[in-house]
Amino acid sequence: MKILGIDTSCDETAAAVVENGRTVLSNVIASQIKDHQEYGGVVPELASRKHIEAINYIVKRSLDEANLSFNDIDAIAVTNRPGLIGALLVGVAAAKSLAYSHNLPLLGINHIEGHIYANYMVHETITFPHICLTVSGGHTLLVEVYEGWKYKVLGTTQDDAAGEVYDKVAKYLGLGFPGGRIIDELSQEGNPTAIDFPRPMLHSGDYQFSFSGIKTAVRYFIEKDNKNGMNSKIEDIAASFQAAVVDVLVAKTIQAAKANSSRSITLTGGVAANSELRSSLTVVADEIDVKVYYPPIKLCTDNGAMIAGIAYEKYTQGLKDNLSLNAAANGSLVDV
Ligand code: KG4
Ligand code: ZN
Repeated sequence: MKILGIDTSCDETAAAVVENGRTVLSNVIASQIKDHQEYGGVVPELASRKHIEAINYIVKRSLDEANLSFNDIDAIAVTNRPGLIGALLVGVAAAKSLAYSHNLPLLGINHIEGHIYANYMVHETITFPHICLTVSGGHTLLVEVYEGWKYKVLGTTQDDAAGEVYDKVAKYLGLGFPGGRIIDELSQEGNPTAIDFPRPMLHSGDYQFSFSGIKTAVRYFIEKDNKNGMNSKIEDIAASFQAAVVDVLVAKTIQAAKANSSRSITLTGGVAANSELRSSLTVVADEIDVKVYYPPIKLCTDNGAMIAGIAYEKYTQGLKDNLSLNAAANGSLVDV
């Protein structure tokens, strides 16, 4: 079964064709990063306009790259929640018109479920139930994932998402947008113990996160350092900030794996590309004999393949939407 998956939830116009949930026949992504860079963050209205310009072309390319036509497609899946509402609406409108004109089944998909599914598309040995840490520019979520794609949300952020904080700190350091990858690279040249930034909620005993305190601590540190003639190396600030974020993410994820006797941890979302997070989590999990999985970068960040992938599972479970499908800015996972 071949599904066309569309995602326009944020600043990437994405379309992909996936066969039987796992075989990626194409995965086309048009990034708008350059359009938003001068504003230092994603501008929602601009994102919607750019999606409108790109969507038809990106869908066509996803079929061309898979050497397929609409006659070969069995269903159309689209992210309809959560995300920027104007951006989501472009994808949903496109998917509905395509489903109607080609007489194909339509499925509205939760973006987070797509991120969670991404690892399963490339790793056959993931066990269930497992712990999934979803960390991106918009989300920080610790979820227990059960067989049949059912979920129990263990915790989430009380304020900023992890990626959002990376982007803000990069802005304070004058590093450009999005800053996650730049901080990751700079940190490799820095000393992670140079500055002792706070680790909020590290010992809270639950699975909730809070990152705005780290962000503020970094901002005050930079302001003070500037006044004193900039004595600190930017690499040390980056590495110390990253150590604080990674420490909290790793500790809570490991705590969840231990408490639920999980044998597998999956890492997904844009921040899952972070080299320190990947290696620290792998080392600590190894000590308790738990395996850590993360997808290749193209499946980590926003993409249409993960949407087509989870849509296959949903379709086989009987999910089908009709043409009244709508977009929603919010959309939490339904607990088991
Ligand atoms: O999943 P994604 O592409 O889009 C959202 O759904 O938000 O994630 C983008 C986020 C940005 O905040 C970006 O700075 C962050 O992922 N990011 C990273 C790295 N690469 C991307 N954060 C830390 N380290 C990285 N290597
Ligand atoms: Zn995402």
